[in-house]
Amino acid sequence: MTIIVTGGAGFIGGNYIHYHLKEHPEDRVVCVDKLTYAGNLSTLKPVADHPNFRFCKLDICDRDGIFALFEEEKPDAVINFAAESHVDRSIEDPGIFLQTNIIGTAVMMDAVRKFGNVRFHQVSTDEVYGDLPLDRPDLFFTESTPIHTSSPYSSSKAGADLLAMAYYRTYGLPVTVSRCSNNYGPYQFPEKLIPLMIANCLNNKPLPVYGEGKNVRDWLYVEDHCKAIDLIVRKGRIGETYNVGGHNEMANIDIVKLIIRALGKSEDLITYVTDRKGHDLRYAIDPAKIHSELGWLPETKFADGIQRTIRWYLENRGWWEEIVSGEYRNYYEKMYGNR
Ligand code: NAD
Ligand code: TYD
Repeated sequence: MTIIVTGGAGFIGGNYIHYHLKEHPEDRVVCVDKLTYAGNLSTLKPVADHPNFRFCKLDICDRDGIFALFEEEKPDAVINFAAESHVDRSIEDPGIFLQTNIIGTAVMMDAVRKFGNVRFHQVSTDEVYGDLPLDRPDLFFTESTPIHTSSPYSSSKAGADLLAMAYYRTYGLPVTVSRCSNNYGPYQFPEKLIPLMIANCLNNKPLPVYGEGKNVRDWLYVEDHCKAIDLIVRKGRIGETYNVGGHNEMANIDIVKLIIRALGKSEDLITYVTDRKGHDLRYAIDPAKIHSELGWLPETKFADGIQRTIRWYLENRGWWEEIVSGEYRNYYEKMYGNR
């Protein structure tokens, strides 16, 4: 089968391509990526010479370009990872989030509609459900939790989810959606919590914790997410949404302290900074549906996954040092300079 993976030069899409070519080396994988600030071709170096891999620098909003690619490749499936993905950037500048995350998704689905017989999977996020209170650990997001977004990022992802289900109902498009909790692992851009704290620790820079650091996220090792997506594309029911998460809730401050300990640094590096606007308190996924229907369960325990991730950043300094030395510096100054 031929599969188009959008956003494959990013964190999860890149890990997905590595996973897919390892598990299904007979499949042809075509990566479509615009190479924004978050896309890194070096993430795809391990598969660059794979005979069944092709990279295509293309914007998912480029209708003509996407239609021409479909004509040429005749894909059997599309997995749409491509997105603007950072909440803080969406607060600064929402426009590009609406463009890529909503319009881009519509363009991909229009291509699927036109060429027919193509499975379409939309990679979404638990952030579309909004947040849960910190004092109600008994509450979890299920697939029927109402959409109730907080940030321009989560709103744009919710818009794409709604469109995907509208294309299923209106045009009969063979669509599935997955909503996953926070991922961590190799190749994550160092603007997100875990790689940012690892990189700053290694550079002995302050560790900027928003508010009091009490916000809770439900962390999943990226390879477990990749396995879930592969299962949904192959065995999931058309027109269904699947929540993906690992019952692994952690407060931000506990993660930061864990990273400090693992790297033998001092807690004096912790700097509490002004909170994020509209900061979601707690995310927590109930993964019962994907477990009972598809047999998926997370395999990597957080204690192991975080050590593996820290080791990866230690052993692959070149990958992230290139990032933090470039344009990222301007971003960092703008976001954290006067906070
Ligand atoms: P990322 O920011 O690391 O990567 C996004 C990739 O998409 C980059 O390679 C970028 O170049 C590419 N891209 C952006 N705009 C594009 C466009 N217009 N056309 C083509 N390519 C474009 O993001 P990520 O963390 O890997 O997230 C991937 C997907 O998973 C996103 O849809 C995100 O909403 C979702 N998700 C992420 C998480 C998480 O914890 N990171 C959790 C749940 C869901
Ligand atoms: P992030 O990795 O941006 O993911 P998301 O906002 O999509 O969950 O942030 C994870 C949590 O860490 C979130 O509660 C915000 C917090 N955070 C900090 O405290 N400091 C930081 O510098 C960053 C980037 C995030």
